[in-house]
Amino acid sequence: MAILKEKVLEIHHWTEKTFSFKTTRDRAFRFKNGEFAMIGLEIDGRPLLRAYSVVSPNHEDHLEFLSIKVPNGPLTSKLQHIKLNDEILVNSKPTGTLVCDYLLPGRNLFLFSTGTGLAPFMSIIRDPETYEKFDEVLLFQTCRFNNELEYGKSIVRLVERDDMLSQFVSNKLRFIPTATREKSEFSGRVTDWLKTDKFLQVTGRDLNSVEDRVMICGSMEMLNDFKNICLQKGLKEGSNSAPADFVIEKAFVD
Ligand code: A2P
Repeated sequence: MAILKEKVLEIHHWTEKTFSFKTTRDRAFRFKNGEFAMIGLEIDGRPLLRAYSVVSPNHEDHLEFLSIKVPNGPLTSKLQHIKLNDEILVNSKPTGTLVCDYLLPGRNLFLFSTGTGLAPFMSIIRDPETYEKFDEVLLFQTCRFNNELEYGKSIVRLVERDDMLSQFVSNKLRFIPTATREKSEFSGRVTDWLKTDKFLQVTGRDLNSVEDRVMICGSMEMLNDFKNICLQKGLKEGSNSAPADFVIEKAFVD
């Protein structure tokens, strides 16, 4: 296991709480779309690393990450001030459970996220194989405020405009962003939608173990709530050793 040194190529501050950045990518760094890596900075002569999902798909020659800004967070309080050409440390051994191979074949793929839990799904929706495996991909992100939903919207727009990807996607991808603390096109927690008719009204579907496969990424509480709903609907949890109907992973917070 090696720690690679990458250079910052681009930085975009999306809200007071979130930013994304691109870095160079060592050819030795290989990952499955949906996986995370330990990345960070050298602080006081030592590497300080945290788990970050790779947002960019594995066919691209750069890496992209989405981060929150925690005022007193050991890493993000410094990482939020990175500048072009700064050095980012990237552990060469990525891992994770949000990988399409860890799900059984199905018709529909539901990707449920809150906050920066969106990150792993940004590489999955940019993977042509996702659309070879599934007829419909429904991506959800719930945030408190509308401005936090802009990053996901911008990536979905990129997918739609990408000549190569749009051929695979061809109307199979739907993004359903919801805000909980201000008015928005879609409002409320998706866990609440799933307990009423609202989910069926918006998506035209209810979750079932025959057709639907699910990935979940967010806080511990959010994971538990979605997991219980999936279990109640008869879906089984999968892992890399035993693929099944849904997989979960905590969104990493500093
Ligand atoms: P809410 O505003 O109702 O708390 P946070 O910033 O606290 O991590 O939350 C991010 C988003 O996820 C918020 O919109 C929040 O809704 C929503 N959320 C928090 N906990 C859950 C949960 N257990 N199930 C579904 N959504 C949740």
